[in-house]
Amino acid sequence: ADFFKTLEEKSDGGKLRGDYSSCDERYVVKQDWAAYTPEQHALWRRLYQRQAKLVPDRACEMFIESLDKLDAAGEIPRLDRTTEALYKATGWELVAVPGLIPDLTFFEHLAERRFPVTVWLRDPDEFDYIVEPDIFHDFFGHVPLLFNPVFADHLQQFGKGGIKALNLDALKYLARLYWYTVEFGLIESPHGLRAYGAGILSSGGEIEYCLTSPTPRRIALDAERIMRTLYKIDSYQETYFVIRDYQQLFDATAPDFTPMYERLKKQDALPANSLLPGEVNIPPKVRSD
Ligand code: PHE
Ligand code: FE
Repeated sequence: ADFFKTLEEKSDGGKLRGDYSSCDERYVVKQDWAAYTPEQHALWRRLYQRQAKLVPDRACEMFIESLDKLDAAGEIPRLDRTTEALYKATGWELVAVPGLIPDLTFFEHLAERRFPVTVWLRDPDEFDYIVEPDIFHDFFGHVPLLFNPVFADHLQQFGKGGIKALNLDALKYLARLYWYTVEFGLIESPHGLRAYGAGILSSGGEIEYCLTSPTPRRIALDAERIMRTLYKIDSYQETYFVIRDYQQLFDATAPDFTPMYERLKKQDALPANSLLPGEVNIPPKVRSD
């Protein structure tokens, strides 16, 4: 699995992997690109090649179109070069960070159209499995959709929503929404189910599992339902939430969440494998070959 802690788990005081000694007050560092070794560039190429092969018919069209423009197959990308292209496309910048950063800082970056990208790359024995987001997850999984103006705007709204949720003591609810959409979201397409969540798109195993395994639940998007639902950080997801199209996602996240947060605070959370009465379990994608 490609999994990582995010948001509600980030501030648990656990030891983080990166080097935080030289970051500024927004946790930004310089990407010391010259320090990557030839072995690390070779590992990046292997990760990229495996994943690029899996993307057709599994990733959403928007992701596939942007990935072709990224030109990052050959070596670990230089974040400042990608930023030049990204800024022209959507006004977003990439900032280098040592690893996981505090919730508020993370959302502040998003709200100001900066996407934090971890600078370290996993070790070779973590090819299939990684405990915290590394540069491959952050870059391969998240950056392509940032080239899409509509999705890029959505992520900025998420950042603003995060700051607001923190002030309403409701960050865990928004974190679940982030998890089940931006990280692990599925979308219907004329060619059947596809993935748009970055945690799926950067994972060698879950990108097929989430679409075709009969094991997990697949449920139509419902923002309040998602915000009640716990999630797994150390295994494939037990439930995926499916959108019809991006407009459904934008419409569902546009309203003021304040009254929802008030209702959620009075309810118990749902286990990650819940299927409530009346909920339809969307069947997996069928492979003919
Ligand atoms: N509408 C949400 C709120 O009122 C903010 C939000 C926007 C969250 C977009 C996610 C995505 O808090
Ligand atoms: Fe991520």
